[in-house]
Amino acid sequence: MRIRNVLKGRSLLRLQDLSDEELLYLLDLADRLKERKRSGKRGCLLHRRHIAMIFEKASTRTRCAVSVAASDEGGHAEYLSANEIHLGKKESVVDTAKVLGRMFDGMLFRGYKQETVELLAKHSGVPVWNGLTDEYHPTQALADLMTIRENFGRLKGLKVVFIGDGRNNVATSLMDGCAKCGMNFVSCAPRELAPSEDKLAAARESARRSGGSVAVLHDPQEAMRDANVVYTDVWVSMGEEKKMNERRRQLAPYQVTMDLIRQTGNAENGRVIFLHCLPAFHDRHTDVTKEIGAMEVTDEVFQAPFSKVFDEAENRVHTIKALMVATIR
Ligand code: CP
Ligand code: NVA
Repeated sequence: MRIRNVLKGRSLLRLQDLSDEELLYLLDLADRLKERKRSGKRGCLLHRRHIAMIFEKASTRTRCAVSVAASDEGGHAEYLSANEIHLGKKESVVDTAKVLGRMFDGMLFRGYKQETVELLAKHSGVPVWNGLTDEYHPTQALADLMTIRENFGRLKGLKVVFIGDGRNNVATSLMDGCAKCGMNFVSCAPRELAPSEDKLAAARESARRSGGSVAVLHDPQEAMRDANVVYTDVWVSMGEEKKMNERRRQLAPYQVTMDLIRQTGNAENGRVIFLHCLPAFHDRHTDVTKEIGAMEVTDEVFQAPFSKVFDEAENRVHTIKALMVATIR
């Protein structure tokens, strides 16, 4: 059966839900949809399809990507703040899943527990997409891989270094995605923030199949050598705000600076890019940083020509659109 048909009705709760071929199919479809949108055309691939967006945590990119992608293709996306619906409070997650599944053709969930998105997928009867949980951020990784491929024309064999909180959702899904695509992934984090053994084992199993590799290093200088992609994320994820001071102490030596980018050896030859899922603390123009300044990345790196963070943000639309088109019946 063709991959397009195989994906119909499927959910995406973590990247391991996709075969390596299915993942590449979604990236190819996202490329085609981006090109079509750039040429000024809009389609009807989601005509009269209704998509629920359930959010327990804040979002700019993910929420807007779903809305714009649905509307581009003639569909409709409804934002449901978890504070304003009964989910888990006056009504079980299972009952809510069954109700929304009778009304909507697909659902994106962003929140805390991975278990919640799994329950929605199990009981709704429609495709459910994980728009970020404490554990994974698979739709982000699709946009990350698309952006990397746009810049290098390939994925296989490239070296990607994630530097920062190596256990967080973005780091884990990026690791899974790189491992599935035959890339050489390095997690660079202090020992206490290195990926968990079970997450590492899952990624290494994918890398074994694809010809990629997954390594964990603690020294930023060493990790950077020959890197093609330097990726970081906030030091404190949503829901962990109380850990701010501890993380700032642990992660200060892991800030992405121009010096660190030079350690790749690729700064002069154009064979390195910088990525960040955003939002980023790179200047003093936020409530959090106005006193303390930049955290995970300096403004110099963030604004540099090799920083592709806004292409990456735009690619959230094209990849989420591909996922919805491929999975909604
Ligand atoms: N990268 C990302 O998921 O951004 P939002 O939190 O704005 O959705
Ligand atoms: N790791 C971050 C990603 C935000 C898109 C968080 O969970 O807050």
